[in-house]
Amino acid sequence: MAAPLNPALVELAAAARRVTVLSGAGMSAESGVPTFRAAQSGLWERFDPTMLATPQAWEADPELVWAWYAWRINLVRGVEPNAGHRALARWAERTQVRIATQNVDDLHERAGSDVLAHLHGSLTALRCADCERPFDGPVEIPAEPVERLAPAACPACDGRVRPGVVWFGEMLPQGAFDAAADAVFDADLVLVVGTSGLVYPAASLPDLARGHGVPVVELNPEDTPVSERVDIVWRDTAARGLPALLAAIAVA
Ligand code: OAD
Repeated sequence: MAAPLNPALVELAAAARRVTVLSGAGMSAESGVPTFRAAQSGLWERFDPTMLATPQAWEADPELVWAWYAWRINLVRGVEPNAGHRALARWAERTQVRIATQNVDDLHERAGSDVLAHLHGSLTALRCADCERPFDGPVEIPAEPVERLAPAACPACDGRVRPGVVWFGEMLPQGAFDAAADAVFDADLVLVVGTSGLVYPAASLPDLARGHGVPVVELNPEDTPVSERVDIVWRDTAARGLPALLAAIAVA
């Protein structure tokens, strides 16, 4: 059951005409996509990201890195948007809701939302690692995790095809951060959902909002470094809290 809603939160949400949502891995947790830093099941537990999510790892062992991403693509294909994703899509029918996500899955879109910015790219936006051309040819995605998998070859230059995600040390996709920052400045409510607030520059967005006088709400079942720098801390999960908030503002 959803936690009781803070009346100040309901009032803020009911009055908001321009909502900007900053979502992270916790947004998709209840769909069955493990977060990065969960104690038991996090991707970080099973794999060392510093070994896999870097340009250096790709250079050293592209088959290992591609096998890991193929596993994640398969995982995301097999899950559905949760009630939190769906609540945000419904909210957008009555007010402007802009979403900037750190997630590389497509669950917001599959729930019916337009995503303003995928700050860390998209799992399935494949491109050539050499010539950068987008790749939309067929790729083999095994049903079970494998340890090694040869990446597809780029039809233009024969380079290796890589996932369109941001690896450690890489730049964010062109324009993504600026679009998110503009949406934050121009909002009358910023809702930070399911992110540990550890990875920059995405983690600076809630502070940009507050610096601009925009109220910031954090929806997260746990304490994070963001918690002490927001206006309202909302301790619940995305799939419980967001539908409850939508229901409350419908009658507010
Ligand atoms: P993390 O895994 O670091 O944090 C997930 C957050 O979601 C935690 O604060 C949890 O408490 C919270 N959480 C868990 N279950 C939740 C639920 N059901 N509802 C709401 N919140 C929940 O994920 P991110 O902050 O997204 O970057 O990680 C940021 C970046 O770190 C990722 O985009 C990735 C990684 O390095 C790249 O790959 C570049």
